[in-house]
Amino acid sequence: MADVNSPFKANVIAGRVVLVTGGGSGIGFGIAKTLGDHGAKVVIMGRREQFLQDACAKLEQRGIETAYYAGDVRKEEDAKGVVDLAVSKFGRLGTLVNSAAGNFLAPAEEMSLNAFRTVLEIDLFGVFNMCRCAFPALKESGNGVIINISATLHYSATWYQTHATAAKSAIDSVTRQLALEWGTYGIRVNGIAPGPIADTPGLTKLSGGRNENEKIAAGIPIGRVGTTQDIGLTSLFLCTEAASFISGDIVVRLGKEAKKAKKA
Ligand code: HXC
Repeated sequence: MADVNSPFKANVIAGRVVLVTGGGSGIGFGIAKTLGDHGAKVVIMGRREQFLQDACAKLEQRGIETAYYAGDVRKEEDAKGVVDLAVSKFGRLGTLVNSAAGNFLAPAEEMSLNAFRTVLEIDLFGVFNMCRCAFPALKESGNGVIINISATLHYSATWYQTHATAAKSAIDSVTRQLALEWGTYGIRVNGIAPGPIADTPGLTKLSGGRNENEKIAAGIPIGRVGTTQDIGLTSLFLCTEAASFISGDIVVRLGKEAKKAKKA
C-alpha cells in the first residue's frame, strides 16, 4: 500500500529484505514505512523494545511483513543477531539502512570524554559494525545496498555538536570506502545527509524542544523542512534499479550556506 504521494509503483522493490537500524522511530521508521509500502519485507532494530513493538504493529497494519530485534548497534553479537534474524525469517538480506544515532547538545568544554566516545560509538562504530556483520548476507544477495544516514551538521560547523560532526563526517568517509571496496561484490553503498527533518527526535533535540520549523525553512533552498517520507523516498530510489550506477554518493539537502551564496 504505497502512500498516495509516492511517484513509485507499489511493487517496485517487491521481495527485497531490508534491515533498518533505528527503525522504531523518527527517520528510521519513515524509511521502514516507505520501503515496506513499496514491497520490502522489513526488519527494524533499536534498543527500546516497546518502540519496536509499536512500530511493527503500525507497519503490519499497512500490510508490511515485518520483524524486530531489540539490540545495540555497538555490540557485535547484536549486529550478527539481527542479520541472522532477517535471513532466517525472510531468507536473505538485500538492504541495510543505518539510521540509528545518538545525540545531545553539549558545549565542547563541558563534554566528557565518555560523552564524546558514546556518540562516536553509536554513530560511527555502529555503522561499521552493522556493515561488516551484514556483508556476507549482502554479498550473497547479489545486489546488496547499504544506505548510511549522516547529517549536514559537519559540512561547516554546528554549535555544541563536536561529537556528532566528528561521527557524521567519518560516516561519509566509510560510505565512500565501502562503496570502493565492496562494489566488487555487487554491493552499492550510498549516504543520505538529511538536514532538518520534521517530527524527529534529532530535530527536537537540536532545537532545544522548540518548534522552529518556519525559521529553519527560510534557510533551505526548497523552502520547507524535510519529512521522514522525503528521506524514505530517497532511500527507495537508492534501492531501485534506477540507482544501479550510483555508489559512493551522498545525497545532501543543501542548507543555508547554499542560499546565502545566491547573487543579488
Ligand atoms: C551532556 C551527556 C548528555 C547530555 C549523555 N551524556 N547525555 N552529556 N549532555 N544531554 C553523557 C553522559 O553523561 C555520559 O558521560 C555519556 O554521555 C554516556 O551517556 P549514557 O546515557 O550512559 O549513554 P547511552 O545510554 O548510551 O545514551 C546515549 C545517548 C542517548 C546518545 C546519550 O541520548 C540516546 O541514545 N538517545 C536516543 C537516540 C537519539 O538521540 N536520537 C537522535 C539522533 S539525532 P559521563 O562522562 O557522565 O559518563 C542525530 C542528528 C540528526 O543523530 C541531525 C538533525 C538536524
